[in-house]
Amino acid sequence: MILRQAQDERRYVRIAGWGMYLPERVMPNTEVEQLVDTSDEWIRARTGIGERRIAAPEESTCSLAVQAGRRALDRAGVTPEELDLIIVATCTPDYSNMPATASLVQHALGATRAGAFDLNAVCSGFLYGLATGSQFILNGVHKAVLIIGAEVFTRILDWTDRSTCVLFGDAAGAVVLQPTSEPGGLLSFVLGSDGSGACSLYVPAGGSRRPASHETVEAREHYVKMQGRDVFRFATRVLPESVVQALEKAGLTTDDIDLLIPHQANVRIIDAAARRLKLHDESVFVNVERYGNTSAASIPVALCEAIDGGRVGAGDTLVMSGFGAGLSWGTAVWKWHG
Ligand code: ACO
Repeated sequence: MILRQAQDERRYVRIAGWGMYLPERVMPNTEVEQLVDTSDEWIRARTGIGERRIAAPEESTCSLAVQAGRRALDRAGVTPEELDLIIVATCTPDYSNMPATASLVQHALGATRAGAFDLNAVCSGFLYGLATGSQFILNGVHKAVLIIGAEVFTRILDWTDRSTCVLFGDAAGAVVLQPTSEPGGLLSFVLGSDGSGACSLYVPAGGSRRPASHETVEAREHYVKMQGRDVFRFATRVLPESVVQALEKAGLTTDDIDLLIPHQANVRIIDAAARRLKLHDESVFVNVERYGNTSAASIPVALCEAIDGGRVGAGDTLVMSGFGAGLSWGTAVWKWHG
């Protein structure tokens, strides 16, 4: 019944509010140099990363998510009680099995009417959340949905493994989705997965396949393991491919892109994708230098900075594209309402 009414109306989804939270502590490459055999020069040349944020001991994915969520709600002028749904995209939940971090966030925000669930598509998580949350708005069922990408990724890093620990950081970013009759918002999306690459980037133990034991702890199997070159090859292929696919679905081409907001993993991946898409530097948003790879938080944080930095204007076509463990990827074409 509700669905049928919604189909009769012209309904679009808009980003009504946005917010981000970054832990205070800045860890420059020079500090990582003290922990593993690496150098500021190597990290900058191979990744473009100069520093990352580290959550304080009392902080967790939930607390970062709540800060970003509150800011997005304030900006939207939406109260927590008005929220219908909260989706928290994360691969570093407060508790490894239960409860969902989204339930903790729902309680902390006082979003008493909202349903809440976690979504794990790792670095593609925000795009999966954005596509999912938008459906609840577009089908007319919900009026206010909060999508948060939040990670305390540094807690699953092996600080003796230089091939991974130099890459990641902690952050949270959020958007509030609401319906509008004004055309725009989500024009198209592509979500993809290739589980054959599951072990290219994973945490071997702590799940049902390999529960925690003395052996798993001793073997450091609760930390991220990565085949960096495999992920690099995958990312440089899938990022431009999924951008083109999503644009085609929207009836657009790369010429229509006003701003590409790619997942901030490595500036070399972003540059390679931009070259293949024939985009100029000013059409591509990059902030990996300051935060490293913040997984599900990277795109919403970049989006917040792009909007607040005046890089996004009414009517602009944004393309947001993420990729990561799974292997997984997701791209959305979004017409900004302003
Ligand atoms: N400092 C100094 N040297 C290092 C470091 C380091 N931190 N890490 C590796 N090296 C060395 C290697 O041991 C190797 O030495 P060798 O030639 O003597 O064997 C040399 O540097 C080159 O290593 P490569 O792995 O070939 O370096 P590459 O240029 O591929 O860069 C990197 C490595 C940065 C990890 C790159 O492969 C990459 O960015 N891959 C994608 C990673 C990624 O984006 N992951 C996240 C996806 S999102 C998600 O879902 C979480």
